[in-house]
Amino acid sequence: MSADAAPRGNRLFLKKSIEQIQHESDSHQLKRSLGPMNLLFLGVGCIIGAGIYVMTGNAAANFAGPAVLLSFVLAFFACVFAGLCYAELASTMPVAGSAYTYSYTALGEIFAWTMGWLLVLEYGVAASTVAAGWSANVVSLLHQFGMIIPVEWTTSFIEAQTTAGGTIFAPSGGANILGAVGILTVTALLMLGVSESASVNNVIVLIKVGILLLFIAMGIAFINVANWTPFIPANEGGFKYGWPGILRASTVIFFAYVGFEAVSTAAAEARNPKKDIPFGILGSLLVCTLIYMAVAAVLTGVVPFRELGVPAPIALAVDKMGMGWFSLLIKVGTVAGLSSVMLILTYAQSRVFYAMARDGLLPRFFAILHSKFRTPWVGTLILGVVIAFAAAMLPIDILGDLVSLGTATAFCIVCVSVLWLRRARPDMERPFRAPGGVITPLLGIFFALAMIGPLLFDIYAKAMAGDMIPAILLTGYLILGALIYIGYGYRNSRLGKGLGQIDDDGPGPGALGAQLHGIGDPKSPD
Ligand code: ALA
Repeated sequence: MSADAAPRGNRLFLKKSIEQIQHESDSHQLKRSLGPMNLLFLGVGCIIGAGIYVMTGNAAANFAGPAVLLSFVLAFFACVFAGLCYAELASTMPVAGSAYTYSYTALGEIFAWTMGWLLVLEYGVAASTVAAGWSANVVSLLHQFGMIIPVEWTTSFIEAQTTAGGTIFAPSGGANILGAVGILTVTALLMLGVSESASVNNVIVLIKVGILLLFIAMGIAFINVANWTPFIPANEGGFKYGWPGILRASTVIFFAYVGFEAVSTAAAEARNPKKDIPFGILGSLLVCTLIYMAVAAVLTGVVPFRELGVPAPIALAVDKMGMGWFSLLIKVGTVAGLSSVMLILTYAQSRVFYAMARDGLLPRFFAILHSKFRTPWVGTLILGVVIAFAAAMLPIDILGDLVSLGTATAFCIVCVSVLWLRRARPDMERPFRAPGGVITPLLGIFFALAMIGPLLFDIYAKAMAGDMIPAILLTGYLILGALIYIGYGYRNSRLGKGLGQIDDDGPGPGALGAQLHGIGDPKSPD
């Protein structure tokens, strides 16, 4: 279909056909080698990171108290229904572009663009957030060896300050140079096409999970049940404690689950996507929920919740237990675990932009492959610099909220895509169909909105109280996205011009699973 022939309004809703997607997917020729356990490990590898190691402390200290446990359950529900929808779409369209591609097929170009722009929050901004947590833990680790990093090199330019009226944001006088260096390091690795082998990824996952399990096992003996009383502290106004606090904490905790949907980007390589993708998505969610709840129970049992609002709460709990050797182990494991999440998120972000550039929605340089390394190196470099800059400037609290907001909105679009496709293409082959008819996508939308509501309200309430920074960032981000689409994507869309995707001048970069599992060599021709 030619764009010139299409009425202007319809241009925005041009859709890719399922057949086109399947053709694009076939051109990758990735091996179907990932079994259920690989996919489970992939999910857990992306999920466990700053959310549990860093943000649980803030969620308990400032919002929910010990009832942060309930926030974990709420956030789990916000993910599980969307996860089922992801599984349905991933089994139907097993392509690496994931949610961006699903919305291009189900809802049309403007939604695909919106989804791509939201995925920047879900992956790019999430990488900045994890970098902020990573730098706090590196500082704590180096401190153990007597090395002191100047505080102005590890404090974001804008800093969260707790006042009697709540948290406000103000300039700190420093910048988180260490976090930026962390991102630039993983960027360099990605430009070189670092291909983590299955064993490296699995070892990092085992370290991360093993350390959390050890923390739970050792911490039980140090729990003081008095710290759990009252389980739901009385509301102190706004989102501070009580049920409003539990809900607000679940929007923070939601960040801890981000990453399970990355399993869907490996759908093209799953041996049996019908069974294994749902297993990978739901299994990793369930495993992480159980671990998270146990960790939160120990954390709030060992440390009075009001003291937990620190950058490295698990390390604080271990220090309280008074075991120096374990403290070192926790810190090494945390830094290793967060490094791998930073790598995977930056990777995922570069591949989403790669897919969008091939569709003409972003400038072509995001899709330029390095002649030797076969990686989209220009795009990766640009993204790395921007992500590093965000990590240096913004505090984890603002970044984390933006990630949760973007991710919950993306989940909504995925659930709507499922509903829409079931109506528009009822006979399409669906190797996996989310159970429960329309109830599952509707619940997915309901819970995603339950995450979005408190976040938007909080941004609004802060703006009304004179703290405009979160509102300015969000509005600026949305306006920037709209301007880029109007100024570039709309004019250059390949679909809009009746053209197919830009061809690679050789094989494309490996999909997420391929790099993580060493399947297929992204550097060598097919
Ligand atoms: N879920 C990931 C984390 O907590 C993004 O770091």
